[in-house]
Amino acid sequence: MAPHGSNGGGEAMLPQSEKSPISTILIFIAMQNEALPLVNKFQLKEDLNSVFPKEVPWVRYHGIYKDLNINITWPGKDLTLGVDSVGTISASLVSYASIQALQPDLIINAGTAGGFKAKGACIGDVFLASYVSFHDRRNPLPRRDLYGIGMRQAFPTPNILKELNLKVGKLSTGNSLDMCKQDEALITANDATVKDMEGASIAYVAELLKVPAIFVKAVTDIVDGDKPTVEEFLQNLAEVTASLGQAVSQIVDFINGKCISEL
Ligand code: ADE
Repeated sequence: MAPHGSNGGGEAMLPQSEKSPISTILIFIAMQNEALPLVNKFQLKEDLNSVFPKEVPWVRYHGIYKDLNINITWPGKDLTLGVDSVGTISASLVSYASIQALQPDLIINAGTAGGFKAKGACIGDVFLASYVSFHDRRNPLPRRDLYGIGMRQAFPTPNILKELNLKVGKLSTGNSLDMCKQDEALITANDATVKDMEGASIAYVAELLKVPAIFVKAVTDIVDGDKPTVEEFLQNLAEVTASLGQAVSQIVDFINGKCISEL
């Protein structure tokens, strides 16, 4: 997901799609609570003629905001249990289908995350991930170990970082909210400051389909702190999703009118 075509030849060498202003963005969000502040801010409408198969609970909100065609996709509620379909499986499927249907110029994966205070994370901080990796795909066979970790660079956004008050750190992804000893060892090896349940799977799909992707993660709980994760997550969810919404909205304002190479 580093910029394609960036071979040292400067602006002239960029493909046309990277020289014209960004027009369509896809914001992938795993939880309804995380999505709604942005749906309201951008006054998006739920898609009634879904671009997704009729059987799936996946939801797209869309609309025009300034010069941008904004899409938020959310995997919806699990059809049996009625809870948000979090984790890498839904994230991969929905992002794949969304990219195919919408052909976005940029993907923003926005969501909450656990943060590590030993790496400088505090509750309410909003991070832009520099790299994303997995921490629950262990395979000691040669090269399969690296495949499992799946480290990918997020699309570099030096100008967003100069302009907005965001922290930068590495993100590690796994399918569990808690952290077992094996996950902890890989999170440490991944040098992660924040931990989520979707980012690296979106990075995988984005790389396959050659769409630049960035990862905006707001900290609801301190993984290496004293409070139980679930309690801290629930206690901070409302306030932190509001901060996440503000950060994503500032990023969208910054993106408006710019080309991908100006981020
Ligand atoms: N999202 C919010 N907190 C999280 C945590 N501790 N682990 C994974 N995903 C999270």
